[in-house]
Amino acid sequence: MLSTKIEDKFHNTFICYRHSDGLPWAILLKDTLVRLGYRPFLDVNINQSGDFPEILEKKVKSCIDFVVVVTPDAFGERIHERKDWVEQEIELALKLNKNIVPCKMPMANMPIITSLPKEIQTFADKQCISPDFHTAMDENIRLSVLRDNLGTYLKSMPTKNNKKGSSYELDSKEKIRLSKQVKNTAYLKDIVTNVAEKINRTDLTVLDVGCAEGELGKICFANNLFSKIIGVDKDKAVIKAIKVDDKRFVYDDVDIEDDSAAQTLESIMHNQQVNKFDIVFASMVLHHLLNVEKIMHLLQQFLKPDGYIIVVGPDDGSKLAYGDNDEDGLSIIQQIIEKTRDIPFASDRFNGRKLFYWLATAGFSQIRIESVMRDTSSLRPSEKMDLFDVCFSYRPEMVRLAEKKGFLDKESANAMYNEMKLLCDELKFRFKAPQFWFCSYDYIGIAQNAQ
Ligand SMILES: C[S@@+](CC[C@H](N)C(=O)[O-])C[C@H]1O[C@@H](n2cnc3c(N)ncnc32)[C@H](O)[C@@H]1O
Repeated sequence: MLSTKIEDKFHNTFICYRHSDGLPWAILLKDTLVRLGYRPFLDVNINQSGDFPEILEKKVKSCIDFVVVVTPDAFGERIHERKDWVEQEIELALKLNKNIVPCKMPMANMPIITSLPKEIQTFADKQCISPDFHTAMDENIRLSVLRDNLGTYLKSMPTKNNKKGSSYELDSKEKIRLSKQVKNTAYLKDIVTNVAEKINRTDLTVLDVGCAEGELGKICFANNLFSKIIGVDKDKAVIKAIKVDDKRFVYDDVDIEDDSAAQTLESIMHNQQVNKFDIVFASMVLHHLLNVEKIMHLLQQFLKPDGYIIVVGPDDGSKLAYGDNDEDGLSIIQQIIEKTRDIPFASDRFNGRKLFYWLATAGFSQIRIESVMRDTSSLRPSEKMDLFDVCFSYRPEMVRLAEKKGFLDKESANAMYNEMKLLCDELKFRFKAPQFWFCSYDYIGIAQNAQ
């Protein structure tokens, strides 16, 4: 049982966990404890090498409750290593007679006495609890993403690009594909509004990362709650071509992976008199990035202490179909996915399952991962083809891009391009068949800055 009183001002609960498999659980536990009124301390960002740092010693000394996240790795071989932090934290907590509460996570067992170093053997006698996170989950951000919603947005979206006199040079096929993608993700407006209302302020500021032409942003941030929306994209031509009447929206070209990105962003914010953002929004961008973990840390720095990040993207691991087997019985979709992963410099698109970890390690809390599933069963033929376009049609061009950037020589690029094109053409043909069925999901991650 936890003993700490809710009124205590300082970190009163120390969360001890094994980084390799305990971090997501530790974050969930922390969120749950916060909701219950505790003030937990979790060392997410401290580099776990070298000596047991002073700050941790201080935190253990000052806590009342010392919670241990019991995961399969927590009491594995590392516990016997010299200077293992889990061991050192527990040893100190035992010495100081803290209220030690082992929290047993799924698939884990309490360690047996003889498996522990002698300094912490009494830990094995502590009474453990198995927290039920589901009943404690925050119900406030309920995402009502319904197919109906999607349908309404699809109908209300303009079908033509209404920009006049634009010098926008982007390939027109890609432009059409992106507008289909915007239609597919316009349901995000409800989610964004939901989050904005939770912040419970007006004059909200937003950073829209990888905004492209800004079309999705215009839908999502139309609400008067938002006073400044800064859209950034690395594609200079796209940014240059944006025309917008609404003064709340401003755009600039920034490559978020560039070493100077933070400095450039700061100067844009300074010019726009924005100190920090209430919301950082990144839709359909993560799979373009090479080091998402690093970018998560960067974006977190630009958020207000209670600000939210909303990230959305596709996940290749979720793509399934009936009727896509080739003559050898192999799934065409799986072959396309494998080939996509073979393209040098292209990041893999299995991001749905990594998102929680990325958000957690960047120091976000209240993390929710939702998904919007799309399948072809109730789609008209043209809508089915739109889904094909959004999910697959661009993939041969990724090979060309890798070649252009010098990651592939001409010969291997040609071979790879032809293989990918062949597979995509075959899949496109299958998509048209009435009996063909396909499904895929987009992940939606919402998390609050934990600073
Ligand atoms: C698929 S579009 C998504 C557009 C928009 N967010 C939406 O959901 O409709 C991806 C955009 O991310 C941009 N992008 C990719 N890598 C980027 C980076 N490192 N920095 C900034 N923008 C990037 C691309 O230029 C492209 O416009």
